Amino acid sequence: MNVSTFPNNRPAPGHLAIIMDGNGRWANQRGLPRTEGHRQGAKALRRAVEAACRFGIRTLTVYAFSSDNWKRPKTEVQALMLLFRKFLMSEVAGCVREGIRLSVIGRRDRLSEHLIPLIEDAERETARGERLHLRLAVDYSSREAIVRAAATARTHEEFSAALGPDVDLLIRTAGEQRISDYLLWECAYAEMVFLPEYWPDFDEKLMASAINTFAARERRFGGLVQPMSRASS
Ligand code: IPE
Ligand code: IPE
Ligand code: MG
Repeated sequence: MNVSTFPNNRPAPGHLAIIMDGNGRWANQRGLPRTEGHRQGAKALRRAVEAACRFGIRTLTVYAFSSDNWKRPKTEVQALMLLFRKFLMSEVAGCVREGIRLSVIGRRDRLSEHLIPLIEDAERETARGERLHLRLAVDYSSREAIVRAAATARTHEEFSAALGPDVDLLIRTAGEQRISDYLLWECAYAEMVFLPEYWPDFDEKLMASAINTFAARERRFGGLVQPMSRASS
C-alpha cells in the first residue's frame, strides 16, 4: 500500500506515536512468562518500523519503558533492559542502511552504565538518517520532560525543540484508553486510536487500519472546516 491509498487522499501522519501495550496479557493468555511477551513485542517493534518506512511516516516515537515501569519486579525490569540493549546492538546497522535516525528520549541517569555508550553510539552512527526518525522512549515521563524543558528553554521555540514535534496520531494497543504520562504536551491535537489487539500481534495491517481511521477524521485545531465547494473557489 502506498500513501495515496489512504482515505480522502490524505498523507500518512507525519508523527506517529505508539504506546506498545499488552505484552504481559499476550503472554498470560498463552501460559507463557511475561518476558516472552516482551520478546515478541520487540519483534512487533521491528515490524512497526518497517511499516512506518513504507507508509512514509517521518517520525515514529514508541513507548518502550516508562519511568513508572521501575515499579515492576526486578526480573521483569532486567528482562526489558536486556531487550533494549539487544535492540540497540542488532538494529543499528539496519537503521544506517535504511536511512533511519535512532534517538532515545527519557532519563539516562538511572540506566545501567553499559547502556549509555550503546545509546550514544547508536545515535551518532544513525544521525544522518533522513527517511524516518525513530525515537525510543526509555525511562520516560512526559511530565518530567516538560518540567526539564521549561527549566532550560528561554523561548517557546526552544521549549518545543526540547520536547519534539507535535504528534499527529497516537496509537495505543491492548484496549486501555489512557495516556500513561506519554507525550502530554505533544499530543495537544493528536488523533487517538485505541486498538484491542495486544502489542505482540501488531503488524503492518493494523498500522494501515489505524492510519485509515486517522485519515478519515476531520482535524480542526479549534477552527472551522471549509466546505469543499468554498475551499476550491
Ligand atoms: C507493554 O506491555 C510493555 C511495557 C510496559 C514495558 P505490558 O508489560 O504493560 O503488558 P500488560 O499491560 O501487562 O499486558
Ligand atoms: C505504558 O504502559 C508504558 C509502556 C507501554 C512502555 P503501562 O502498561 O505501563 O501503563 P498502565 O500502567 O497500564 O497505565
Ligand atoms: Mg501495560
